[in-house]
Amino acid sequence: MKNLAVFASGSGSNFEAIAEAVANGELKANLKFLFCDKKNAFALERAKKFGVKTYAFELKEFASKAEFEEKIVEILNEEQIDMVALAGYMKIVSDTLLSAYENKIINIHPSLLPSFKGAHGIADAYNYGVKVFGVSIHYVSAQLDGGKIIAQQSFPYVEGWTVDEVETEIHKIEHKIYPQTLKKLLEENL
Ligand code: GRF
Repeated sequence: MKNLAVFASGSGSNFEAIAEAVANGELKANLKFLFCDKKNAFALERAKKFGVKTYAFELKEFASKAEFEEKIVEILNEEQIDMVALAGYMKIVSDTLLSAYENKIINIHPSLLPSFKGAHGIADAYNYGVKVFGVSIHYVSAQLDGGKIIAQQSFPYVEGWTVDEVETEIHKIEHKIYPQTLKKLLEENL
């Protein structure tokens, strides 16, 4: 079985969906740890519930981003991680981490890439008036939300939906598509 690590900065609902899929045997992988770059991230509470090991430290504790990422790489090596799934990890991944784990870091983004990159993908798409929303899973590259797309799922806008209703639908899809995509990558080596 492959060794998986998840990185999150906030709520961690996607982490939970992955942990759930591992716990119920849908996703056959070793979920070795959750890393949070925010010590108060709610995701850490979710990890406790699932008995998943956690690491939590913040960029400000290090002299530079490179040193921060060197520490992360050290842990990834120690834990023999095969794949990193970013799930609401709100930091740009820099060269130290990218070059050590090339093509082994994936991310979920709440829009149909390449449209609506960045931290406000849902609100940006909503305010633009798009009629087809969606979710993308992609390899992480040096370009923000810019790596090759692995999976996408779209859904039509229902007239009258608020941005919150769109967001709820997006999360529903995310929680299905992320474990499914990890299954393909980790079990079938796609
Ligand atoms: C998700 O919408 C994900 O697409 C984006 O950040 C959000 C994280 O949500 N990258 P959560 O922390 O998994 O609940």
